Amino acid sequence: MPYPFQITSYDQYKETYKHSVEQPDEFWGGVAENFTWRKKWDKVLEWDFRKPDIKWFINGKLNITENCLDRHLAQAGDRPALIWEPNSKEEAHRVITYKELHTSVCTFAQVLKNNGVKKGDRVCLYMGMVPELPIAMLACARIGAIHSVIFGGFSAQSISDRLQDAQAEFIITGDGAYRGGKDIPLKSTIDDALVSCPFVKKVIVYLRTHTPISMIKGRDVWWDDEIKKVTAHGNISTEAEEMDAEDPLFILYTSGSTGKPKGVVHTSAGYMVYTTYTFVNIFQYQPGDVHFCTADIGWITGHTYIVYSVLCAGGTSLMYEGLPTWPDAGRMWDIVDKHKVNILYTAPTAIRSLMAYGLAPLEGKDLSSLKILGTVGEPINEEAWHWYDVHIGKKRCPIVDTWWQTETGATLISNLAGVTPAKPSYATLPLPGIQPVLVDEQGKEITGNDVSGNLCIRFPWPSIIRTTYGDHERCRTNYFATYDNMYFTGDGCYRDENGFYRITGRVDDVLNVSGHRIGTAEVENAINMHTGVLESAVVGYPHDLKGQGIYAYVIMEADPEDAKLTQSDILQTVTRVIGPIARPDKIQFVKGLPKTRSGKIMRRILRKIAEGEINNLGDTSTLLDPGIVNEIKEGRI
Ligand code: PRX
Repeated sequence: MPYPFQITSYDQYKETYKHSVEQPDEFWGGVAENFTWRKKWDKVLEWDFRKPDIKWFINGKLNITENCLDRHLAQAGDRPALIWEPNSKEEAHRVITYKELHTSVCTFAQVLKNNGVKKGDRVCLYMGMVPELPIAMLACARIGAIHSVIFGGFSAQSISDRLQDAQAEFIITGDGAYRGGKDIPLKSTIDDALVSCPFVKKVIVYLRTHTPISMIKGRDVWWDDEIKKVTAHGNISTEAEEMDAEDPLFILYTSGSTGKPKGVVHTSAGYMVYTTYTFVNIFQYQPGDVHFCTADIGWITGHTYIVYSVLCAGGTSLMYEGLPTWPDAGRMWDIVDKHKVNILYTAPTAIRSLMAYGLAPLEGKDLSSLKILGTVGEPINEEAWHWYDVHIGKKRCPIVDTWWQTETGATLISNLAGVTPAKPSYATLPLPGIQPVLVDEQGKEITGNDVSGNLCIRFPWPSIIRTTYGDHERCRTNYFATYDNMYFTGDGCYRDENGFYRITGRVDDVLNVSGHRIGTAEVENAINMHTGVLESAVVGYPHDLKGQGIYAYVIMEADPEDAKLTQSDILQTVTRVIGPIARPDKIQFVKGLPKTRSGKIMRRILRKIAEGEINNLGDTSTLLDPGIVNEIKEGRI
């Protein structure tokens, strides 16, 4: 068996789980033995959730890129590490072997050094889905710089907020990115963001779309020119910086229930060990399998299951530049057929949108290479689950439903493909080392089965969030203060009669739109910036394709003369402030909002109205102005 820590039977899972809970140090120490260390750890774990202060593999020294690349060169140097499928069917795909990836990473690491990037510096990556994105991430990790990837759909304002928070002095971007029928103007958006970020010293630009852009003298340089300066002296093998186990590896911003996005910090060793452990076990990965995760690398799923875990396991990761429905609804199946994909990992929202096209796009596509299917990012409805099972997996591919979060680094609850039981719409059982707890509003543990509650985790795992960048207190209050001595996930959860877990959705003011997390407060702040807006309240409602849609109730200073025009202007403002993913699906102009006497908006009522449950609004007697509810009900869209 290629991976000594791969679990291959349900009984073995049960034994392993028991061991991991009873002897966590021994268990994780054993898993960590399978990696390359410059120096082994002195102690496996020290933790205190109340601070929080969590350290794994204490005093261990390593570089994650030696685990992703160098250690595979002797045995598997010619194996494909990355297969890249371009947006256009006309363009040739690229296959990058471990040797080639190693060379590219070393070369670009030298480019970073030449441009003044040092260990500990923050480097922002705002790129499309091209191989140069993982190359840049790994090059940062190679020299100990901390990367922060920003999804290509975020606006200049969002980028600027993140750059300032991370104090990132270096940026790697492209002239543009291809995504479906659109060219995304990356560099010009960066230029807009940098107006308010004078501390940025260098912008390295990768040429992809040949979009006309401006290059600022002294600040902006071309990727290719910088590479040539390095390779002019022959091939380079930039030595990996020795990192402490707890040195930060990356920052990834994510939305919470309040204010601005938080910079979730993950560290080197714990992230490496846990992500690889979950990848090999959940997907039952075998060397040579082609793993296709359809996420964008701008989100945690891409970081973990396109780049780091797959490469640490010596696997082959397929990345796709475009959209699943471009140029037609058969593209995903073309890719599976063309590259003989073995593992397909995607989001319920993508499955639902492909389902809507019927079966015609599947005709003539050979999907027989598929062995395992996976979903992530949001609860999957049973209809989508069965469609995936019957029409894509042909009832012979186990489906894994992986529940996790940006903060968890990798999957915490999932079945192991073909090894532990699957149950439609259930993430099922915790991975070894994961101790889920359901609690009531007061934080009292709810024991037994066939119960629902708020999902917490009572013991650390190696890739747990360490801090929120620049503001540790925010990390504490967000995740570790709601319930004493536990990590609070923000999700509601049901545990069935057999102890299987089903995630029911967020219990805080966070929306999940097409598998993307968006804070209602963020959207409200953006709407409130629009001229003439007095106040707004944003809630989610069930949406057939996106899982959740965004419903905004907006109070204007004066009745808009042209409601449609004002609505589209507000949408434009939200796009400018956050990005198109945060655009409300519905905007209802209202005269007031249902508030308690202390001024708190009763979102429960707004949620029900948005969901269409207008006859069952519960007690409204505590409202300052109960009459407003009828008005809002009547104006419902
Ligand atoms: O509500 C849960 C939902 O997505 C949230 C995490 O979002 P994010 O940090 O953006 O990471 C998404 C990819 C890991 C969770 O709090 N979620 C994620 N996976 C599932 C899920 N809900 C139900 N089932 C899942 N498998």
